[in-house]
Amino acid sequence: MEANGNIALIGFMGAGKSTVSHYLRDKLGMDEVETDEMIVEAEGMAITEIFDRYKEPYFRDCESRAVKALQHRSRVVISCGGGLVLRQENVTNLKKNSRIVLLTASPETILERVKDSSERPVLNGHMNTEYIAQLMEKRREAYEAAADLVISTDGKTVEEIGEELIHKLSLR
Ligand code: S3P
Repeated sequence: MEANGNIALIGFMGAGKSTVSHYLRDKLGMDEVETDEMIVEAEGMAITEIFDRYKEPYFRDCESRAVKALQHRSRVVISCGGGLVLRQENVTNLKKNSRIVLLTASPETILERVKDSSERPVLNGHMNTEYIAQLMEKRREAYEAAADLVISTDGKTVEEIGEELIHKLSLR
């Protein structure tokens, strides 16, 4: 991957992708996109509405389109929806011009960060650590296989996470 490439942040809902993405944008002067936001804009409706009306596979197709649309961009921090790398096709396309960084957090930390949100249809009616731990375990292999770098976020500030990432990717 060229030096002008992108950084793709992946990981479970509430792992801190958006927050870290803002930090990197500001620190590195990169552009920033969220795949969820691209989809909301393209479809003209909220994620929850897409899930309600068209169901999850349709949403996953939207994610694949979003990744393809980013293939020719450079110096972008891409904050990926939590389920995006479950499709191998998306990982392959991301890897063409991005380094993929997995952010992890314990189920307890995740619950603390997402519990007041009703914007995550995958967790609707399942706001508890047991369910989060189970789903996280189910996804673990795909997350780890996709990642070029893994950063644990538990107990760290956004600055610590961002600086660790910048250092480990030798971005400065
Ligand atoms: C999802 C994560 C969400 C969003 C959608 C599905 C998932 O993004 O794409 O609700 O399957 O993990 P965040 O990880 O940004 O919450």
